[in-house]
Amino acid sequence: MGGGIAQLFSAKSIRVRMKDINWDAITKGYHHAHKIFKKAVDRKKMKASDLMNAMARIEGTTRYEGFKHLDLVVEAVVEDLEIKKKVFTELDAATDPKAILATNTSSLSVSKIASAVKDPSRVVGMHFFNPVDKMPLVEVIRGTATSDEAASTVFQLSKKVGKTPILVKDSPGFVVNRILGPYMNEAVQIALEGVPVSRIDRVMERFGMPMGPIELIDEVGLDVGAKVSKVLYGAFGERMKPPPGLEVLISEGRLGKKAGKGIYLYEAGGKKKSEDPTLAKKLGIKENGAGLTDEVIEKRLIYTMINEAARIVEEELVRDVADVDIGMIFGTGFAPFRGGLLRYADSVGADSIVTDLELFARNFGPRFQPAPFLQGLSVSGKKFYS
Ligand SMILES: NC(=O)c1ccc[n+]([C@@H]2O[C@H](COP(=O)([O-])OP(=O)(O)OC[C@H]3O[C@@H](n4cnc5c(N)ncnc54)[C@H](O)[C@@H]3O)[C@@H](O)[C@H]2O)c1
Repeated sequence: MGGGIAQLFSAKSIRVRMKDINWDAITKGYHHAHKIFKKAVDRKKMKASDLMNAMARIEGTTRYEGFKHLDLVVEAVVEDLEIKKKVFTELDAATDPKAILATNTSSLSVSKIASAVKDPSRVVGMHFFNPVDKMPLVEVIRGTATSDEAASTVFQLSKKVGKTPILVKDSPGFVVNRILGPYMNEAVQIALEGVPVSRIDRVMERFGMPMGPIELIDEVGLDVGAKVSKVLYGAFGERMKPPPGLEVLISEGRLGKKAGKGIYLYEAGGKKKSEDPTLAKKLGIKENGAGLTDEVIEKRLIYTMINEAARIVEEELVRDVADVDIGMIFGTGFAPFRGGLLRYADSVGADSIVTDLELFARNFGPRFQPAPFLQGLSVSGKKFYS
């Protein structure tokens, strides 16, 4: 992510200093940025001479020299609260007290990270999506102490570098990952009930998703997903409980596309994927189980997301319901022609969704219990977009 963020800023003529704990990691970041610029040159979207200049705008360091002169730092170290707090303590000492300190955390509390800094008002979330050069969304997260200045600067900067920001409150998983987490869990749960993973993916692709949820898990990385899952489970309890099985794959190094194997197996640099015939035995999957129809698979997956989004709206984590839809379309590629998750919910009607969720809660488990806000819409006949 660090390399991707550096590439993005440099592409917009902003000079960047990339810091890591060793030169191997910095080299990895350089390679990542170079690969993106090189592709632009190959596609004749960039001149080769501009590539040299763009790379020259990115400097590498293993120490904090020059940090006193920076206006903004975007932290993108490993997703571990203690490590992030340690890095922010170092940043507190290394930067100008007026500099803005942003974190690219995808699930940790911005307020807790900010507690490592004397003046937490300068700490704000700036959550990019992977791959940074392609995904248009940035979640700008206000911690409890974040100043208006820090939030609005990062909001404006996100626009300046060509992204679409949404302002969200500090809550586990923020908006997009909190909705995606239970969706990906449900996809694995359906697979454990005996539905082939390629069929699950096909159903969601037909709905209009750029890729199915199982492929998405492999794309994100099983290890990265497990960390976010743990945070969500800790915060929201049983309805976010990760399904069994993924830990087995992680322990075998099946971390997803980046490792050449995850839930699917990959060949030729990740371009070709196939189903693993041994997966069923490994995860204790019933053969030809469930007998679920495509319609039920689709509803279980989409309604899980709508249910979580209803809670997010009720908790007022976003300023406007449209921000949930912007987040899902620009952060995940959610079927744009559906108008977004909540526009789609309105087109189906809360009444019908609640009826199905109650049925699913009886048949598949209490995680489907309709959110009070959604029940309220169902009773009043109102819509998310009123
Ligand atoms: N991978 C994704 O899809 C994704 C998407 C959005 C946000 N994020 C977030 O971005 C952050 C980084 O994720 P990633 O996937 O790039 O992880 P990564 O493990 O690939 O990279 C983390 C980097 O941090 C470095 N690092 C560790 N300790 C450090 C320290 N004390 N000082 C400086 N550098 C240190 C590591 O050497 C490594 O290069 C995480 O907070 C993650 O949640 C990741």
